[in-house]
Amino acid sequence: MKKMMKKLALAVACVTTVAMFAACGGKEDDAKNNEQANVIKFGTNAEFPPFEFVAANGVIDQYDGIDMAIAKNIGDALGKNVKIENMEFDSLLLALENGQVDAVIAGMTIDPERADAVNFSTPYYTAKQVMIVKEDSTIAKAADMADKKIVVIQGYTGESCVKEMKYEYDAFKKGSEAIMELVNGKCDVVVIDSATAQKYVGDNAGLKIVEDPEAFDSEEYGIAIKKGNEELLEQVNDILEKMIEDGVINELSAKYSEQ
Ligand code: ARG
Repeated sequence: MKKMMKKLALAVACVTTVAMFAACGGKEDDAKNNEQANVIKFGTNAEFPPFEFVAANGVIDQYDGIDMAIAKNIGDALGKNVKIENMEFDSLLLALENGQVDAVIAGMTIDPERADAVNFSTPYYTAKQVMIVKEDSTIAKAADMADKKIVVIQGYTGESCVKEMKYEYDAFKKGSEAIMELVNGKCDVVVIDSATAQKYVGDNAGLKIVEDPEAFDSEEYGIAIKKGNEELLEQVNDILEKMIEDGVINELSAKYSEQ
């Protein structure tokens, strides 16, 4: 009888201990889940002023720009903390598909090929490709690039445009590197999105922008969200539409373009 009581006591003790551990583990998991549930992760490539760039005092950590302010607004509206994952532009959609990020905000043009892989939000910005040249350049339209040294940024829509025109080109990883090539006279023209071109021309003396609306169609930027995550897509669309309606996006564009 005594032996049995001992066994029983041992069993109770064991069960209690196991239960305690389980409870502990459970609490930790809950905390982790809550933390994750309270964070929305945006992927970007912070090499694209005025949409995303690294700054001393960014709107989210060290990241600043129109897109970063939009991401912050979305986080606030959803009651979530925003985390930015900065990576190469070419890796963004893969990171989204892998679940490494919840959404991609990167001045990303909505195009049919990308839209096959991911969903895009309501467009929030209209842009076009332009040519940046030296002030004394004779390039006046896209066709004038034919026998010139062209530089594009790898994976940007500007690269697809030049490829389609069947011109030879060099591709750089960053817009800033492309601009240095031009400033140093190592190439004749850089093809890149309009607002970013404005920034570079403002920051570097001796450059100008040449437009050719007949050669370059207008493009629209959207936030990319994993296919199947309709809930987030709808939430983002609601928030974006309100930001457009209230003029917030226009204000942000003006603010960051003037800087
Ligand atoms: N709009 C262009 C594209 O979608 C360039 C975007 C580059 N964005 C960036 N964050 N680096 O291809």
